[in-house]
Amino acid sequence: MSVTLHSSLRIGRYELAHRVVMAPLTRMRASEPGSAPTSLNARYYGQRASPDGLIIAEATQISWQGKGYPRTPGIHTDEQVAGWKGVVDAVHDKGGLIFLQLWHTGRISHSSHRPDRGLPVSASAITPAGQAFGSAFERLPYETPRALDTEEIPEVVEDYKRAAARAIFAGFDGVELHGANGYLIDQFLQDRTNNRTDQYGGSIANRVRFLLEVTDGLINVCGNERVGVRLSPFGTVGDIGDSDPLRLFAHAIEALSARRIAYLHLIEPRANAGVRDEANLDAPASVAALFRRAFKGPLIASGGFTKLSAEAELKSGTVDAIAFGRAFIANPDLPHRLAIDAPLNAFDRRTFYGGDERGYTDYPALASLRGVA
Ligand SMILES: Cc1cc2nc3c(=O)[nH]c(=O)nc-3n(C[C@H](O)[C@H](O)[C@H](O)COP(=O)(O)O)c2cc1C
Repeated sequence: MSVTLHSSLRIGRYELAHRVVMAPLTRMRASEPGSAPTSLNARYYGQRASPDGLIIAEATQISWQGKGYPRTPGIHTDEQVAGWKGVVDAVHDKGGLIFLQLWHTGRISHSSHRPDRGLPVSASAITPAGQAFGSAFERLPYETPRALDTEEIPEVVEDYKRAAARAIFAGFDGVELHGANGYLIDQFLQDRTNNRTDQYGGSIANRVRFLLEVTDGLINVCGNERVGVRLSPFGTVGDIGDSDPLRLFAHAIEALSARRIAYLHLIEPRANAGVRDEANLDAPASVAALFRRAFKGPLIASGGFTKLSAEAELKSGTVDAIAFGRAFIANPDLPHRLAIDAPLNAFDRRTFYGGDERGYTDYPALASLRGVA
């Protein structure tokens, strides 16, 4: 029988009932100040949970230094852990599974997000093009980041490890390292943002070192079966780029494969990570196809999939699961709708980032549309 979105799949130590994964989605609705998840956030995730279905919770900063946007959650204070417990419980109550995406934004930040007003840090002191978000959602010029000293790097690895330990304490089933979309890990990986001369810069092996040290740290805390990694080869979000992405990402992905992590999660670059609607046609048609053979474990792909294109990818063996982003924002019962070929609610881009329950917890499920629930 051929594989469909509703075939089961083993990921790490878990047996998923279906392959409709909820992609990590920043919604900027945590408390401010405090960056803690709220009962509204718990309601949102609970609505999107399904028995033995996998949710990857939104990008979550590992430290104040890692914060880059207003009202994004953290996992480095007791208050934040308590908030996440509420989210995890809401998902587990419905029999679902939930991983937390661990995030350090690096240079895609602004000093106003940090209690100490310290400059954003990065691999090198290279200013991103574009504009930062200030703490009141205002747009500000990016500051030139401070390059991390070699001696500071183990401290950042420790921040990732502490965040993972807190995530497990809050009840998460695992963690996903956010190595995508031009944030700190990506800033070390790619040579547009890394011109270091120490053991973290220069050769591909050196630029991949930080990703692998963090991954090894997370494995140390959680076990390899509870660690996934997300990458966005050939992506351009966050003013990122590399002179030889094929060799760079093949090296990184082979090294991750050898560590037998729970899964690799790739963002298809043509979908522009959902940040813009137009396609990036300069990118390869499918990075999942490009790197499939470099990774031996489960591969999740994300970016612009429909049920039809998702099932074609699954059937061809290019990927093992699909993470849906915008469709999951607008359809709390997406796995069910896809199973019965029900029409989907349309998403409203205006309420993606920030705000209240509107465009967040008020998208109807099928049962409520029919007046059943
Ligand atoms: C509102 C919004 C927020 C996002 N936040 C994150 C995030 O926190 N972490 C991440 O890795 N990707 C993030 N992405 C990318 C999505 O996870 C996903 O890869 C993208 O939306 C493409 O999938 P789609 O076409 O199914 O929406 C975000 C995308 C959108 C639209």
